[in-house]
Amino acid sequence: MDKLVIEGGRRLSGEVRISGAKNSALPIMAATLLTDQPCTIHNVPKLRDTLTMIKLLESLGKVTRYEKGKLVVLGKGPIKDTAPYDLVSTMRGSFCVLGPLLGKLRRARVSLPGGCVIGIRPVDLHVKGLKALGAEMTTDAGYIVAKAKRLRGARIYLGGVFGSSVLATANVMMAAVLANGETIIESAACEPEIEDLGNFLVRMGAHVIGHGTPRIIIRGVKELLGADHSIIADRIEAGTFILMSVATRSDLTIRDAYHGHLLSLIDVLESIGVRFEYTDDVIRVINRRTITPASINTYPYPGFPTDLQAQFMALMATTPGVSVITDRVYPDRFMHIAELDRMGANIRREGLHAIVQGVKTLHGAPVMASDLRASAALVIAGLTAKGLTEIHRIYHLERGYEDLEKKLLNIGAKISRKKV
Ligand code: EPZ
Repeated sequence: MDKLVIEGGRRLSGEVRISGAKNSALPIMAATLLTDQPCTIHNVPKLRDTLTMIKLLESLGKVTRYEKGKLVVLGKGPIKDTAPYDLVSTMRGSFCVLGPLLGKLRRARVSLPGGCVIGIRPVDLHVKGLKALGAEMTTDAGYIVAKAKRLRGARIYLGGVFGSSVLATANVMMAAVLANGETIIESAACEPEIEDLGNFLVRMGAHVIGHGTPRIIIRGVKELLGADHSIIADRIEAGTFILMSVATRSDLTIRDAYHGHLLSLIDVLESIGVRFEYTDDVIRVINRRTITPASINTYPYPGFPTDLQAQFMALMATTPGVSVITDRVYPDRFMHIAELDRMGANIRREGLHAIVQGVKTLHGAPVMASDLRASAALVIAGLTAKGLTEIHRIYHLERGYEDLEKKLLNIGAKISRKKV
């Protein structure tokens, strides 16, 4: 087990290059199950989660070659229909193999993802959508079992209590592309990662339109071909570096980042005094000495992303004034409050809301990472705090941030990895 040691209170400078999007790579890697032909996917970030997905594809019968961000997935005969507990339980995102397995084999057994620290991870919308396509959906010993003599297109309303579902949309898309007839997904997730998945499916020969909007229309085909594709940039990684730059009052140039995928964050930050310059693939954060607090609610895209909520809280922790943070997607995603408070933040939970009273400075302390984005919030807090911060259980960070230490060292952070 390693820990990250950060000496805070330093300005950052220079530029950072954003990696491919984890949450686009995972469903696109799953989509390679829909064809027996070779697929080549570029800009796949090297993360615990993508390496887990590679293991899962291999356990299902695929052959993979992965180097320098390029992943080749080859068929070597029929694929298996079962995604085992030991892999799915380590990475909930692997639940998105359900749709392609059902689409390709007309049957699938995938371990239920179970809960995690950011909240329970229900799958009712996945089940509803696949049932609408004609699948018989049952559970057996912690597994979802899906079977279908044939899959037929359907009109499916996929909005849930918390709005649209990213991976439920992905699963339904990946089953519908090989169903008979037309499928219309209403209240589909609009995340850029869903748009990227739709583009990959079209490259494979699928008939998909409207991906990236709330209504996706799919006309099923008999079979899909291999395809080449390059993963979009990771907007959550880019947003994390933007918030890091503002929190440390630094000028930072963020390369391979598309500001159009971060408008909700940029809008809030500009409203509190931050200035930006951007081109199509570069975002430059212009340092501002003073910023004012802002209150946010997270929502499905294009709303403020829940995956940047913890990082935004780390910024508000040292912004003079009061801000109220509410996560409308994962209402309990507040594990980072206790750890930030250990560093001298003044944050209290009141029902659905976190009330943040900005303090002058945070103080370094040993803290515990609890989930991927909470860990990123602790890195931001450590970079702004006076003194040393030790972040334990950094495997959480390694799930979603490629070469984070190297990227931080290159922009002037004082950070090192130590054995615990
Ligand atoms: C994706 O998870 C992301 N993961 C999450 O990122 C992200 O936080 C989440 O979308 C929301 O943007 C990947 O893409 C691999 P959802 P997903 O289904 O698809 C409820 C990260 O840090 N819901 O969009 O599992 C659910 O409880 C990770 O990179 C149902 O009610 O999330 C939540 O409240 C963490 N029924 C809301 O919908 C369902 O059947 C959105 O969840 C499914 C979800």
